Amino acid sequence: MISKSQKTYKIITFGCQMNARDSEKLAGVLEEKGYVEGIDDVSSDIVIFNTCTVRENASNRLYGRVGYLKKSCMENKNKIVGICGCMMQEKDEVETIKKKYPYVKLIFGTHNIDEFSLYIDRALSEDKRVIEVRDKALGVERDMPSKRVFPFKCGVNIMYGCDNFCAYCIVPYVRGRERSRDVKAIIDEIKRDIADGVIEVMLLGQNVNSYKGKDTDGNIVSFPDLLDRVCKIEGLKRVRFMTSHPKDLSDELIKVVRDNENCCKHIHLPVQSGSTHILEMMNRHYTRDSYVDIVDKIRREIPDVAITTDIIVGFPGESEDDFEATLSLVKEVKFDSVFTFEYSKRTGTKAASMENQVDEKVVKDRFERLLKEVESSSRTNIDRYIGRVIDVLVESKDREKGKLTGRLSNNYLVHFDGDESLVGKIVDVKLIKPFGFYFEGKLC
Ligand code: SAH
Ligand code: SF4
Ligand code: F3S
Repeated sequence: MISKSQKTYKIITFGCQMNARDSEKLAGVLEEKGYVEGIDDVSSDIVIFNTCTVRENASNRLYGRVGYLKKSCMENKNKIVGICGCMMQEKDEVETIKKKYPYVKLIFGTHNIDEFSLYIDRALSEDKRVIEVRDKALGVERDMPSKRVFPFKCGVNIMYGCDNFCAYCIVPYVRGRERSRDVKAIIDEIKRDIADGVIEVMLLGQNVNSYKGKDTDGNIVSFPDLLDRVCKIEGLKRVRFMTSHPKDLSDELIKVVRDNENCCKHIHLPVQSGSTHILEMMNRHYTRDSYVDIVDKIRREIPDVAITTDIIVGFPGESEDDFEATLSLVKEVKFDSVFTFEYSKRTGTKAASMENQVDEKVVKDRFERLLKEVESSSRTNIDRYIGRVIDVLVESKDREKGKLTGRLSNNYLVHFDGDESLVGKIVDVKLIKPFGFYFEGKLC
């Protein structure tokens, strides 16, 4: 229960795992200041929107919600509505907020989230609004407190930014150049998390395979080496990582995933397109064939591994043949799951100025056809687990349906009957029936 005198906060997160992790840090700062999580954004004293701008529709959702808060800001003059994250690195968006949403008191970007505590103090004490957006990072961000969404699992940043400049993608512009954290900082953070009850971590980076951190002797450490060291930390039951870029996924990485029992058998390997021509236009630095070779190698070396992917339809210049190459790749690879996106034009990226943008109707039609293919070819994958007993980490209990939800090492979900006290524990579950992308199971 929240008492009336207690000040409350609500953080609303859009976007990827990186943003989810950042939001935990923002929550950590506010909890240190004595705030508790509120029921919703309308009633909370501090509301922070942590934004994403990877696709255009994100901004509609944001402004709809911010507009809705106007009344509560008028009623509570001490309320602070703040907006941060990737969208705030775009000047036009900041200008829009300045003009249209005068009651937004705080704006900051991705490069100075570690000064959040100071910004909140200023927003509370100053009359004018606080706007702090930097063009680039000053270095690797300082440690921050954090309030985890799940007490037993969390993300750990191993690097920030991205240097790949895929032609469609805005991330390098809003997150800046690639910066790797030192090995010791990462390992110390994970040890603190474990002491605090964490049993699963997810190592986070836009392209973890290009991690180049330093150890205490100043030697450069590669991602497979870091992953191996993390897996060997005592008390850590599960280790995940995200995202792997296919262009530099090495044999060493496959070996480390295979040889460490606590390394989860799941590789998210975004392919984006099945056409080598489009991949080249996207600046992805691999071909359809080399992608298929990597998948084959991973599956040969790591039994039961799940491979998931991201696909964009309608990249400029995508012909019907190119699109059919994507369909045939989905059929051939049989991904465990696929995140599908309609191409979204992002100002400032190389693809935005390409001439041969694909007609919206064609994009929608291809998107539907892709979804159908994804559904039929993924289902053939899930059947292979039926009847087996597998360890799952219990993540939550659904109060309405009364079922527990657990996650397999390979990231599949399973619903089964059981007591809430099992949340946060690893238990054996027999997989009985597949339902789309999850199973119904029975506790053993
Ligand atoms: N760093 C990760 C992806 C980060 S963005 C990687 O390289 O795989 C997550 C996904 O959003 C991407 O994989 C891509 O499929 C999608 N995406 C990025 N920019 C997009 C755009 N302009 N339009 C549509 N989808 C996009
Ligand atoms: Fe974007 Fe490509 Fe970097 Fe991923 S690797 S964040 S898709 S530029
Ligand atoms: Fe979105 Fe920023 Fe992540 S643009 S996908 S929240 S890095």
